[in-house]
Amino acid sequence: MLTTKPRGTNDFLADTVRKWQYLEEVIRKVCREYGYGEIRTPIFEHTELFQRGVGDTTDIVEKEMYTFTDRGDRSLTLRPEGTASAVRAFIENKLSTQAQPTKLYYIGPMFRYDRPQAGRYRQFHQFGVEVFGSNDPAVDAEVITMLMDLYGRLGLKDLELHINSVGCPKCREEHRKVLQEFLGDKVSGLCKNCQGRFERNPMRILDCKNEACQGLTKGAPTTGQCLCPECDEHFAKVKDYLDLLGIEYKVNDRLVRGLDYYTNTAFEVMARGIGAQSSIGGGGRYNGLIEQVGGGPVPGIGWAMGLERAILTMEQQGIKFPEEPPFDVFIATIGEEAAGPELVLLTKLRKAGLAAEKDYLGRSLKAQMKYAGKFNAKFTLIMGGDELQRGVVVVRDMAAGTQEEVALDRVVDTLVASFINR
Ligand code: HAM
Repeated sequence: MLTTKPRGTNDFLADTVRKWQYLEEVIRKVCREYGYGEIRTPIFEHTELFQRGVGDTTDIVEKEMYTFTDRGDRSLTLRPEGTASAVRAFIENKLSTQAQPTKLYYIGPMFRYDRPQAGRYRQFHQFGVEVFGSNDPAVDAEVITMLMDLYGRLGLKDLELHINSVGCPKCREEHRKVLQEFLGDKVSGLCKNCQGRFERNPMRILDCKNEACQGLTKGAPTTGQCLCPECDEHFAKVKDYLDLLGIEYKVNDRLVRGLDYYTNTAFEVMARGIGAQSSIGGGGRYNGLIEQVGGGPVPGIGWAMGLERAILTMEQQGIKFPEEPPFDVFIATIGEEAAGPELVLLTKLRKAGLAAEKDYLGRSLKAQMKYAGKFNAKFTLIMGGDELQRGVVVVRDMAAGTQEEVALDRVVDTLVASFINR
C-alpha cells in the first residue's frame, strides 16, 4: 500500500509532464485569443453545491463523489467537475456587476469514483470554459468553434461533433410527458438504472448504452421534437452559425448528457478509434443553473475536455509533441581543487539564465563526460588544476566537436553571448 498509488490515479513523470505543459501552452494561447480569463477555485466545495448544481439524479452525485466530513463537521466534496464551482465563484465574487458576458476558463484535477480503465480515472484533469450572461446563439457557436479550433491546433483528426437541443424547462416537461407515455408499458424491460430514471429523469434513458434500453427506446420522442418555438429558433440559429463557420457536426437527437443542468444546446466530441472512452469533450447551455445555485437569472454555457483523453488520442494518432530544447552547459572537473570554483561558476551560469549542471557523485572525467551526454548539453566546460592556475576553462562545443580556452572571468559572458547569437 505504502508504495502504491490509489486506484484510478496517475503519476506523471517528466516525459509526460512535458506533454501536459505543451497542451496547457496551446490552451492558454487559445483562451487569450478568444478572450477568456483563468479562474482557480478550491479543489473541494460544500457538498450541497454539487447536489444542487450537478443534480441529485446524476450518476456523479448518486455514486461518484468523493465526499467527506471535515473536523468542523462540514460535508465537503472533491470537485467532480468545474461548472458548479465556476457558477459559485461568479455569484460569490459578484462578477455579474462587471461588463458582461463573463468568460472564464480553468484547468485542473477533478475527482469521480468511476470504474478505472484506459481513459477513465478517479483523479483526472479537465480544461473547461464557461460564459455567463448571454443567451445569444452566437455564443453557443463560439464555444463550440473554440473547442474544435483547439483540437485542430493540437493536430487531432477523425473527430465527430454531436449536437442536440434539450430545450428549456417548458420543453423538458412536455418531453417528459410524451416520453413517459411512450415508455409506460416498457419500464420492466429497461435496465435497473433506467427503471429508476423513469420517474426522476426519463430523458436520460435515451442515452443509456444498455442494448435492451436502446432497443426499447427506438422511435421514442426526442427532445428536439418537443422544443417550444423559442428553443427551436435558438437551435436553428446555432446550426446556421456553425454552418457559416464551416464547423462540421451531426445532430444526435439522443444526446442528452449526464449532468442535470443543461438547457438548449448540448454537444459532445467523440474521437474515433480510442475505444470505450471516446468522449474527449462535451458541454452545453445551462440557463437555469446560476439561479438554482442562488444567483440571478443569468444564462450560461460552457464545456470541458478531458486532458488525459486528449493526450491519449494524440498519442494514438501519432501526433508528435515538441521536443525538449537541449540543455545549455555541463561542467566537468579534474581534481578536488576545482570543486569550489566549479560551484561558483555553476551558480553564475544559472543566474545568467543558462541551464547548467555538474556531477555530484565524484565521477572520473571519463564518467563525467558520459554523464554529460545524458543532458545533451550544447557546451561542456572542463576545469582542472592546471587551467585554474592559468585562470582559464576549456569550453567544448559538443555539436561542432571544437574546443577553446576562455578566461574564467569571461566565460559566463562568452557563453551567454553565444546563446544570444544562436
Ligand atoms: P463531462 O462530460 O462530465 O462534462 O466531462 C467532460 C470531459 O471530461 C469528458 O468528455 C471526458 O473527456 C472527461 N472526463 C469525464 N470523466 C472522466 C474520467 N473519469 N476520466 C477521464 N476523463 C474524464 C462536465 O464535466 C461539464 N462540467 C462540462 C461543462 C462545462 N458543461 C458546461 N460547462
